[in-house]
This record gives sequence, C-alpha cells and structure tokens, in this order.
Amino acid sequence: MFQNIDLEKYDVTGQVPVEETEKQYYYMAKARGHVQNLAAELGRRPTCCVTTFGCQMNARDSEKLVGILELVGYEITEDENADFVIYNTCTVRDNANQKVYGRLGVLQNYKKKNPHMKIALCGCMMQEPSVIEKIKKSYRFVDLIFGTHNIFKFAELLCGLFENEGMLIDIWEDTDKIVEDLPVERKFPFKSGINIMFGCNNFCSYCIVPYVRGRERSRNPKDIIREIEKLVADGVVEIMLLGQNVNSYGKNLEEPMSFAQLLQEIEKIEGLQRIRFMTSHPKDLSDELIQVMKNSKKICKHLHLPVQAGSTKILTGMNRRYTKEQYLELALKIRREIPDIAITTDIIVGFPGETLEDVQETIDVIEKVQYDNAFTFIYSKRTGTPAAAMENQVPEEIVKEGFDKVLKCVQETARKQVSKYEGMVMDALVEEINEHDSSLVTGRLSNNTIVHFPGDASLIGKIVDVKLEECHGFYYMGHRV
Ligand code: 5AD
Ligand code: SF4
Repeated sequence: MFQNIDLEKYDVTGQVPVEETEKQYYYMAKARGHVQNLAAELGRRPTCCVTTFGCQMNARDSEKLVGILELVGYEITEDENADFVIYNTCTVRDNANQKVYGRLGVLQNYKKKNPHMKIALCGCMMQEPSVIEKIKKSYRFVDLIFGTHNIFKFAELLCGLFENEGMLIDIWEDTDKIVEDLPVERKFPFKSGINIMFGCNNFCSYCIVPYVRGRERSRNPKDIIREIEKLVADGVVEIMLLGQNVNSYGKNLEEPMSFAQLLQEIEKIEGLQRIRFMTSHPKDLSDELIQVMKNSKKICKHLHLPVQAGSTKILTGMNRRYTKEQYLELALKIRREIPDIAITTDIIVGFPGETLEDVQETIDVIEKVQYDNAFTFIYSKRTGTPAAAMENQVPEEIVKEGFDKVLKCVQETARKQVSKYEGMVMDALVEEINEHDSSLVTGRLSNNTIVHFPGDASLIGKIVDVKLEECHGFYYMGHRV
C-alpha cells in the first residue's frame, strides 16, 4: 500500500516539508540515498530484520516499519544476522522484557562480526524510563531507540542513524498526533489489521499499557474507511480492527460516533468479506453492538471479551469496573442473542490478594460462559502500576495451584465448544500451506477455529466451504465441499 509512491519528487537538498506525512516521505527519499550508498559499499542490498514481540498492535506497527524499510531499499529478511535489526518490544508482562534482554546478547555477537550492523529497539518497553537507563548502561551497542508515540517519524530517525555517531534516543511521553498515509507492507496479502484507535484510558490497576501507549485517540472514520477501501482494492478480504478498547471508539471525535456505527459503515464496503475486532472491554460493550453483530453478514462469529478474574473483590482491586454478576449477565446475553458465536477471554491468576476461593469464582465464570478459548496469565508485577504497590502479593505456590486449576478448566470448556461443530460445513479463509504437511492447507473459520484440509497454494486468500470432519481438541481436520 502506498508503495508505488514516487520518492523522486522530493528534493532532499531542499527544505524539509512542514506537513508531517510529506515530511516523512522527504526523509524516506533521503534515507533511500543513504541505503544506496551503503549498498555500493557492501556490494549488495543491505538486509533488515524486524522482530515483533507482543500483540496485534505491535504486529501492525511492524508492518509500518517494514513498509518504510522496503521503500528505502532494504531487503527484508527473517534472519537476525542482518545489516539492520529492529526489535519491536512488548512490556505487558516481565517475561516479555526478559526475552528482549536475552536476545540482545545474541545480537551483540552478530554485531562484532559485522561492523555495518545497526540495532534499533522500539515499542512499548522503550516507554519505560528504567529500561532506557538499563540499555544506556549495559547495552551500549544499541544504535537507535524510539517509542510508541513517535513511530511515525521512523524515516526521520533512520536518517539520523546514518548521519550521526553514537546511540540515538527519541522517546515521547505521549502524543495527540495521528499521522495518516504512511507506507505499510502487509504480512498477509489477503488480511490486514487496521488501527481504529490508539492508547487506553482504563487504567486497570495491574496494566502498564496506559503508561506506554498513552491516552485514547480515535482515528477519523473517513480515514479508516478510506484505508479499508484501498486494502480491499489490493486484495484484502478480512480485516481486524485494532484498539486497546474498541468499544469506546469515537467518544472523543469532533463528531462522536459509536463503535457499532463504525462497524455498520465498514460493513457497506463492497468486496470486504470478513470483519474482526479486538479488544473489547466488557464495561463498554453496548446492546447496540450486540444487535449489529447479530445482524451482520460480515462480522465474524467471535468475540474476545477479557474477564481477567471471577471474584468481584479481585475485579474491584483490578479497577475493571464490573462485577462478576454483570460480566456473566453480559456474556450470557451475547450467547443468547448470537448462539453460534465463539467467546474467548484473558484471565490473570495471582493478582494481589487473590485466594484459592477467589480462583474458584474464576472457574465458576469459565464453566458458566463455556469459553471457546482463553489466554491464561500469571500476574506479573509491573513497576509504576497501582497493583505493584499492593501489599498482599500472592506466594508463588498458591499462584501455581490456582493457575493449573484455571488452565485445566478452560481446556475442558474449549475442547467441548470447539467440537460442537463436528460434521458441519463452514466457510474457511485459507491462510497458508500447512506447516507439517504440504498436501494440506490451513484455514480459519469465522469463529476463529483452525481447520486443516487437502488443498494447494492457489486457495490461499480464498474463502471456501469445508466439512469439519474430525475435531482434534483445538482444531479440525476436514475436506472441501
Ligand atoms: N500480569 C499478567 N497479565 C497481564 N495482562 C496485562 N497486564 C498483565 C500483568 N501485569 C494480560 C491481561 C490482558 C492481556 C493482554 O495481558 O489479561 O488482557
Ligand atoms: Fe501490545 Fe500491551 Fe505488549 Fe504493548 S505492552 S505490545 S500494547 S500487549
């Protein structure tokens, strides 16, 4: 997308444009010159590897980085032994941070052998001042650090990397800026994520996201629709609308609009076949949205509705702003209104003060909602969040015991839910050749379940009818009909 942009029209010896999008294209033109010089020096095209940690938001951000890198002349590779390596980091749990530190050690060894190699770090983890201090002190070989709020100026930073010596650090605390129309290179030709909003205002007491992704900002609906129309014209059939809390979309726009209204506008786009979205906060999920989902031909039969915990006492400590009863009422209403919908969730075990009796309440919710799938996490203390300062942190053994119980329970409900469709014919979007058996392809049902069936590469990106023959726990084996 936007890849056919003509960078030649920018005079890099002239004045830097003032308008932000134009300004960034100017820097892309300039960066292209630097990459050409490097290519001449190396006698080959320089390579670049972007490694993504974390969620779909980060995956989408990485596609934006790759869009610019390709446009300025890098050859994109998955091999981290490259001329330029970028880690787009996550910090939602501490193990995400530890992974980055561990892998930086490996990169340092590559860099010792390749003096041209540059290393950049970006994403959520970089918004934490303590991380920056640590990198400045112990990881001096990193060349560029930027954050989540200024990713749009990546081309400008890239020029800075070529034009300056030493570590370049540019972190913004927050922003109200949304820069449109920058290049982006999709990982899949037939499906794409689309940011509809950035940031989060919820401040769940365990969560670092509002601190690293800033305040809620919704994109203008016209920009969203225009982007989707362009994607559809470019072969996309399925989109995933992305936001930390999509249900509060549009509240702060000049002309306020609800998420349900946005969905109805998107539904009208001809050629678009499937609409997904993520993530929904239960406190903001409206009846209007349930009705729009129920009546839609394009919105997929899947709702990710993070519960986090079952006990109202813990939910209050988490600042989730709903009770166990309110959550159950909502989830069961959705099951009633849209019987064939898959409901998935996120669960945290071991939040400060959580006892095994509290965990039992989580299990009660799982049994009542009968989740189709759930991501279960052990609570991770994030410095700077209110929960980190709470006194009653839970001992590891208790957390482990609760976690195992929760996991067992969600596996049981998921198995039961997924197998409900055995013998039926459903439509699947073919995503890839099966990893283990090249005579099979892997498709995704509207309810997000995976099905493997005989087929070849010509089916990739097509929606086909598949008979779900055998359920193997979390996926199906089937045949095209
Ligand atoms: N510890 C463990 N899990 C967390 N999540 C967010 N913050 C934490 C934390 N501090 C989980 C929540 C959220 C998902 C993206 O990550 O379940 O929904
Ligand atoms: Fe995504 Fe949150 Fe991780 Fe950032 S910290 S990458 S927003 S999960």
